Amino acid sequence: MQLIDSIKNLFGPTARPLVPKVKVAPAGEYVIRPLTKRHLRDVTLLNAACFPNGDSYTRHTLDFLLSQPTTLSYRIVTEDNETVGFAFVMVNEGGTAHLTTIGIAPEHRRRGLAKRLLLHVENALRARSINTLVLEVRVKNTSAQDLYRQKGFYVVQRLNKYYTDGEDCFLMVKALY
Ligand SMILES: CC(C)(COP(=O)(O)OP(=O)(O)OC[C@H]1O[C@@H](n2cnc3c(N)ncnc32)[C@H](O)[C@@H]1OP(=O)(O)O)[C@@H](O)C(=O)NCCC(=O)NCCS
Repeated sequence: MQLIDSIKNLFGPTARPLVPKVKVAPAGEYVIRPLTKRHLRDVTLLNAACFPNGDSYTRHTLDFLLSQPTTLSYRIVTEDNETVGFAFVMVNEGGTAHLTTIGIAPEHRRRGLAKRLLLHVENALRARSINTLVLEVRVKNTSAQDLYRQKGFYVVQRLNKYYTDGEDCFLMVKALY
């Protein structure tokens, strides 16, 4: 998912890191905390690990997002205080919000963390009287689409060639009330 290419590429394109082999992390407890500029380095590295296809944001773009008063951002933290998940949301005028990006470290996936993070985001938005959450997802990203469908999002539109590599996206929406 990308906000819009113009924002994504504000500070230049990201490099494409090699895809590391995934080692499943040992089981443990997780908590959700606010994500601030203090976590910029960690979240930049994690963002790159979550999007090895080149969809990751640059450190500067993440810094920019964290500077915006309209951004809500959260991280998932292990017992050892390691950041293993993140979500950024931009609150728009008029009662809507945009899920800018969400990711869980490959070693910690399929543990319900993205579901927990989304629930947390939705509750934070409801507390601010935001009633609609929208997002874009690559048409080939079926695992994320499964997550969103399971959490009550619907596809409302397919946007042609939304991404710079020419792939389409689905625009998905959820009513939060
Ligand atoms: C998509 C992503 C955030 C899911 O994180 P996660 O913590 O593993 O997801 P959860 O464990 O909460 O899974 C919730 C649901 O999502 C779907 N899902 C998640 N991973 C899946 C996979 N690999 N294959 C199929 N469905 C999947 C399932 O419906 C799952 O429910 P289930 O476990 O009851 O079957 C994670 O895979 C990720 O970070 N991907 C890379 C970044 C990305 O694509 N972000 C979204 C951009 S739009």
